[in-house]
Amino acid sequence: EIFDNSTQASLAIANEIADLIRKKQAAGEHCVLGLATGSSPTSVYNELVRLHQEEGLSFKNVITFNLDEYFPMEPDALQSYVRFMNEYLFDHIDIDKENIHIPDGTLPYELVESFCQQYEQMIKDLGGIDLQILGIGRTGHIGFNEPGSHINSKTRLITLDHITRLDAASDFFGEENVPRRAITMGVGTIMKAKRIILMAWGEGKAKIIGRTVEGEVTDSVPATYLQSHPNTTMVLDDGSAAEL
Ligand code: GLP
Repeated sequence: EIFDNSTQASLAIANEIADLIRKKQAAGEHCVLGLATGSSPTSVYNELVRLHQEEGLSFKNVITFNLDEYFPMEPDALQSYVRFMNEYLFDHIDIDKENIHIPDGTLPYELVESFCQQYEQMIKDLGGIDLQILGIGRTGHIGFNEPGSHINSKTRLITLDHITRLDAASDFFGEENVPRRAITMGVGTIMKAKRIILMAWGEGKAKIIGRTVEGEVTDSVPATYLQSHPNTTMVLDDGSAAEL
């Protein structure tokens, strides 16, 4: 789906999320959202905050799982995804804090594997993710599933691609400060979501979007796995759609 600009596109995505939350509320059910960080979803979060503050959208029935977090990472560090989510969304809505889940960047290494297994289990026990939003990295990563990630991969500790660390360098005031690893939901975890919306804005994403949408399915561009997901929409603006 191609929009004239990312603002309109973000409004459409926020409205879909809000409609789902309300529908689940009306049915007395919880709504499990998979959330992403990065610059792409910020306007979606702004609109969700507006819908809460001005139109009374409640998040009391919402349970969230974030895709990823750098490892190691302290929650109050400038680059932490915990901090990002609080600043853009959670601090401004009525979600119960115990319903928020973000991979823990503070764990000692030997506890990471069991943490990841619990993350998977919690999602499963809730009946899976109702709606997952995704950005895309220049390497074609979704979450932090870098090239080489298996279609059935689960939540795990991964090594970041050189290009990803380069792209994050300005946030960390130098590439040497970017963590080498991250915890990410797996491709398999993401693929089990009932509905997926991948968003990409601007010409900088045009090349990777071209490969993702029209290229062969390959583990060297993990986002191409989404071609086989039954309910995925790629929401683009004119810039990111330029090579289609
Ligand atoms: C990071 C995140 C990804 C995100 C990507 C793109 O790598 N871990 O989930 O999709 O950035 O970021 P942006 O939306 O800023 O282009």
